[in-house]
This record gives sequence, C-alpha cells and structure tokens, in this order.
Amino acid sequence: MTTPIVVTGGTGTLGRLLLPHLLDAGRSVRVLTRRQPAGPAPSGSASSGLMSSNSGLSGSAPSGAASVGPASAGRPAEVEYAIGDLETGTGVVEALAEADTVVHCAGSAKGDDVKAAHLVGAAVRAGVKHIVYISVVGAERVPVRSAVDRAAFGYFGAKRAAEVCVAESGIPFTTLRASQFHELTLATVRQLAKLPVVPVPAGVRFQPIDGAEVARRLAELAFGDPAGLVPDVAGPRVYGFDELARSYLHAAGKRRPILRVPMGGGAYRAIRAGANLAPDRAVGVRTWEQYLAANR
Ligand SMILES: NC(=O)c1ccc[n+]([C@@H]2O[C@H](COP(=O)([O-])OP(=O)(O)OC[C@H]3O[C@@H](n4cnc5c(N)ncnc54)[C@H](OP(=O)(O)O)[C@@H]3O)[C@@H](O)[C@H]2O)c1
Repeated sequence: MTTPIVVTGGTGTLGRLLLPHLLDAGRSVRVLTRRQPAGPAPSGSASSGLMSSNSGLSGSAPSGAASVGPASAGRPAEVEYAIGDLETGTGVVEALAEADTVVHCAGSAKGDDVKAAHLVGAAVRAGVKHIVYISVVGAERVPVRSAVDRAAFGYFGAKRAAEVCVAESGIPFTTLRASQFHELTLATVRQLAKLPVVPVPAGVRFQPIDGAEVARRLAELAFGDPAGLVPDVAGPRVYGFDELARSYLHAAGKRRPILRVPMGGGAYRAIRAGANLAPDRAVGVRTWEQYLAANR
C-alpha cells in the first residue's frame, strides 16, 4: 500500500471528480468527511468520471476511519473515509496520520478561513509535506471590508485568508485558483429559476469551467512538487449572469422574467469590474452550452 493522499471535501463536487485520478494512478486515498457516506465509493476511470456501483462498506478501521473498497477487482487502490470536522478541528490530526500530501477541497459559503486554519494546524502536527489548495479566481482582488461586502461576497475574503494561512504554514504548498464550476453555475440558476422572477446581480459576469477539468489539473498538481501559487484556470468564455440564467431557462423550457438587481459595496464594484474573471487564463475546453445540454 502507498502512503495515502488525504482529500478533504472528497465527497463534494470537485473531490468526487478528483478521486478517480488518484485511484487510477495507484494511490491509496483517504477522504476526510463529517459523516460516513452511505453510497458507493468512487472507482478509477477518471476519463469517464463515473462512480462505481460495485464496492461496499467494509467496516471500521481502528482509528475510527471506515475503509471502503477496493473499488474493483485487481485494483490496488482503495478509498478510506476518516470522520472529522474542519470547522471544529475534531478528528483532523487523526485523519492526516501517515499522509504526506493533502488536497484540501473542503469548502462552503462561509468559514473556509477557519477550516484552513484547522487543517494547517493538524498538518503541521502530522508532518504533512505538501498541501494542495483549491481557491477561487479573484480571491486577492475582491476587497471584503464592509458588512455589505461580507454579507454578499464574504466567500472571497475567506478564500483569501485561507490561501494566506496555507502559504504561511511552513508546509510546502500548491494553490490553484479556479473560476466557478459549471456544476455550481447550474445549481445556482436552477435554484433561482424556481422563483417567479429570476433576480441576478446587475452587471456581474462569470467564466464557468467544467469541474472535471479542474479536477484533472488538481490531480497533476497533487502528483507534482509543491509549486506555490500556480496560474489560474478559468472557463473558455465570459457570460453575463443574466445570459447564464436565460440559457438555463431556455434549455429547461421555462419562461420567467429576469430582474437585474444593482448592489452596493466595494466587493460588488470589483466583481462588476471583472475581478472574478481570468480571460487570459481561459484554459477550460468544455463550454457552458455543452455542459448544459448534457445536464439540464
Ligand atoms: N464550486 C465552484 O464553483 C468553485 C470554484 C472555485 C473554487 N471552489 C472551491 O473548490 C472547493 C470544492 O468546491 P465544491 O463545489 O466541490 O464543494 P461542495 O460540492 O459544496 O462540497 C463541499 C465539501 O466540503 C466538505 N466540507 C464542508 N464543510 C466541512 C467541514 N466543516 N469539515 C469537513 N469537510 C467539510 C464536504 O464534506 P462532507 O459534507 O462530506 O463533510 C464536501 O465534501 C471549495 O473549496 C470551493 O471553495 C469551488
């Protein structure tokens, strides 16, 4: 068995797309999660991105981590689940035992600074040698200063604080900033389209990228040497938020008026000016239209 790569957020959108790449490379993988997953574990075959349905839970390991897998016959790799919470720090040191690389994909709308601090503290104690962190395009360009900024765009401030925490940890690191994933874009417009009028922040644009492409890049970085802050990855085209909402409504066969809502604050002004975009890093290949056609 190889030294495990620990993936935080391995049950989330990006993490689930990442795991097959690690498994296909023959690495053993440990996922830090707040709760034992009920469904099947991911197997290899990163190219398809499909989840296996042929593996089952195999009971609890002594550390309190439950092993899952091996995912398919003859495959040396396996996924292990370690229960821990990055918001409180509970179980995190144990989850990192014997790992030299951690890919930190856990995240939520709020509190990614706190999660990173707990991860970094535990990683120092566990002797981790490489932290790979996924951040967001514009983390350093969106100023989050006022209460208005924090309420609407506090996510960017927390991602920036998390980046700094990782960079100042003393542990060699790699940080990749990505633009919004197609998956999140679709979930957002789908949710908004449940309303009789679809509200979008006026003048806000996105450059959505396929989560699978980000996962592929993250896997390359996890296998490589620590590289510090690496060039951003962003989708092939920039769209107005209203354009994204309209294309979803069209694809879903829904008719709704779109309401462009002006907002206040410095973070909104920065985003209106394109701080969340990376047009010079439009390296994504799969377009929003292609993703939407396959997933509506
Ligand atoms: N989505 C985007 O468009 C986008 C763009 C750029 C960067 N990113 C970054 O990419 C990362 C992954 O995003 P995603 O869209 O894949 O997220 P997601 O689907 O919402 O998944 C979130 C993951 O974080 C884990 N998590 C949340 N709180 C946790 C806690 N307190 N302790 C331990 N684990 C916790 C969850 O694990 P359990 O529920 O199993 O505990 C889950 O696996 C995030 O850091 C996000 O900021 C996302």
